[in-house]
Amino acid sequence: MKVSCKLSCCFGLLTSLMLFSVARSQLSTDFYSSTCPNLLKIVRTEVQKAIMNEIRMAASLLRLHFHDCFVNGCDASLLLDGSNSEKLAVPNLNSARGFEVVDTIKNAVESACAGVVSCADILAIAARDSVLLSGGPAWRVLLGRRDGLVANQTAANASVLPGPFDPLNTIIAKFAAVGLNVTDVVALSGAHTIGLAKCAVFSSRLFNFSGTGAPDGTMDTSMVSDLQSLCPQTSDGNNTAPLDRNSRDLFDNHYFQNLLSGKGLLQSDQILYSSDAAASTTRSIVENYSKNSVLFFNDFVNSMIKMGNISPLTGSSGQIRKNCRVVNS
Ligand code: HEM
Ligand SMILES: *[C@@H]1O[C@H](CO)[C@@H](O)[C@H](O)[C@H]1NC(C)=O
Ligand SMILES: *[C@@H]1O[C@H](CO)[C@@H](O)[C@H](O)[C@H]1NC(C)=O
Ligand SMILES: *[C@@H]1O[C@H](CO)[C@@H](O)[C@H](O)[C@H]1NC(C)=O
Ligand SMILES: *[C@@H]1O[C@H](CO)[C@@H](O)[C@H](O)[C@H]1NC(C)=O
Ligand SMILES: *[C@@H]1O[C@H](CO)[C@@H](O)[C@H](O)[C@H]1NC(C)=O
Ligand SMILES: *[C@@H]1O[C@H](CO)[C@@H](O)[C@H](O)[C@H]1NC(C)=O
Repeated sequence: MKVSCKLSCCFGLLTSLMLFSVARSQLSTDFYSSTCPNLLKIVRTEVQKAIMNEIRMAASLLRLHFHDCFVNGCDASLLLDGSNSEKLAVPNLNSARGFEVVDTIKNAVESACAGVVSCADILAIAARDSVLLSGGPAWRVLLGRRDGLVANQTAANASVLPGPFDPLNTIIAKFAAVGLNVTDVVALSGAHTIGLAKCAVFSSRLFNFSGTGAPDGTMDTSMVSDLQSLCPQTSDGNNTAPLDRNSRDLFDNHYFQNLLSGKGLLQSDQILYSSDAAASTTRSIVENYSKNSVLFFNDFVNSMIKMGNISPLTGSSGQIRKNCRVVNS
């Protein structure tokens, strides 16, 4: 009796260990250590130059990794040009940016180690460096992804990417569809501690919200006035506002403090704290991150690593693109 229990317990433990290692990625931090030993230094230098040239680029590069990973996994499908490109899909058109910077990084990497490093891995490293150089946490990036052979505009057309007008249950479901949970939703939304958004994605909150004849009641009233002048109803929606008006270029936990005082910019930001659905899901996590930036940083790193592990191509799947914009001929 005792012996068989020990056996089955031991077997159970072994099975869960095996499951754990299967669920873990096949990626590794030292993937290029012999084939491209200076990779991390080269990418860091290029990202630093790009941010010095335009501070917003940190945010733009971070977002590229997210939009890549949610559509077809982290396979750099977002970077492919063409009429079926993901760049032309609704969430990316006139919005996703930084593609020229990615080209510059890729060229620098190719000069040092031609044909070795994937565009998907370059996006993952550039996202990490962007966070770090903005004052956020550092982490060891898992590497070894390969580049996909196709883009999927249909998928990128908002069916898999969360949108700024999605209700909270939809956002949670879209994250769950790629293996990310409620903690990941909140932690990764904290990426909105840097960067900008166009009036077009939040102006519906400012004048006649959901046909109420009034602004979104969850938005701080002085913020409403500021944004009403920035985004008059007659404008083309291309003006921009900081996602974190407290410290727009600094990676910190002010994004969460803002949510507690009704200063989230996007509806999809504010509902993490203010919606009814938040009470049983995201609100307490927002509160915890607003009080504890170490907790936010730790969870953000964990969630970025999880996001970077969404369906990577490994082994001999896909290819190592020479030019991130086109599949090798
Ligand atoms: C939770 C669901 C999310 C929604 C609905 C959402 C939506 C948006 C929207 C609408 C914009 C503004 C785009 C524009 O005006 O052109 C934006 C910007 C941004 N998003 Fe998200 N996002 C989400 C999650 C994330 C995640 C997970 C990350 C990264 C880990 C991220 C990183 C960013 C960054 C850094 C910017 C600023 C980009 C720039 O200034 O170029 N977002 N997001
Ligand atoms: C994606 O959405 C855009 C804008 O609505 C549309 O023009 C395009 O045809 C869509 N692409 C696909 C493949 O559905
Ligand atoms: C593209 O994405 C759509 C929607 O997620 C999916 O149904 C379709 O199979 C995908 N196509 C390819 C070629 O992967
Ligand atoms: C989400 O997953 C992480 C592990 O990646 C776990 O630590 C965390 O508790 C989970 N959160 C929820 C709400 O299930
Ligand atoms: C707000 O929108 C609703 C529904 O679209 C409309 O019936 C109403 O007249 C609008 N109110 C104002 C003040 O514009
Ligand atoms: C906003 O800017 C984009 C890119 O320059 C342009 O294509 C678009 O027409 C502008 N929006 C409007 C409504 O003018
Ligand atoms: C938030 O922090 C409190 C106090 O430390 C803790 O009891 C609670 O479990 C945390 N909530 C979440 C969702 O992490």
